Amino acid sequence: MRRFAPVALLILAACQPQEPPTGAEDFAAYCSGCHGAGGKGDGALAGTLARKPADLTGLAARNGGEFPTTRVMAKIWGYTGGHQGVAVMPNFGPLLESDLVPYDGGDGIETPTPTRLVQIAEFLKTLQP
Ligand code: HEC
Repeated sequence: MRRFAPVALLILAACQPQEPPTGAEDFAAYCSGCHGAGGKGDGALAGTLARKPADLTGLAARNGGEFPTTRVMAKIWGYTGGHQGVAVMPNFGPLLESDLVPYDGGDGIETPTPTRLVQIAEFLKTLQP
């Protein structure tokens, strides 16, 4: 019986509810390879891509000074499914499978939105100068 104890512990550990990663952690894991750690579009993979990754620190500036939250989310969301052939950015499934929270992206309408997608958008806001 004793030799099963470590296995049982492992199973228990795997069943503990886990804190979802923060927006910064998800950005580092899913985005910085192309967009760079600071979001400037200078990640390690940038030079290998057919299209230059966007400078995400200029999202607000390029939108008349206002952070385009809904467009950013649609961009990330849009890359799951559809867009075969032209997609440069990969599928961010795990970000979109997180729990849903009501989120108003600026249009006054609260839409159930995956937590980790909200967190990434909020993190990108902090990169705006
Ligand atoms: C494989 C490289 C790659 C990865 C990984 C990647 N991107 Fe991109 N991204 C690009 C490229 C290339 C563009 C510019 C072409 C385009 O718009 O599709 C872009 C464009 C964007 C845009 C549009 C910017 C604008 O001005 O409209 C946003 C927003 C964005 N990425 C966010 C993200 C986020 C958030 C992540 C992580 C969840 C991510 N990207 C991961 C390559 C990547």
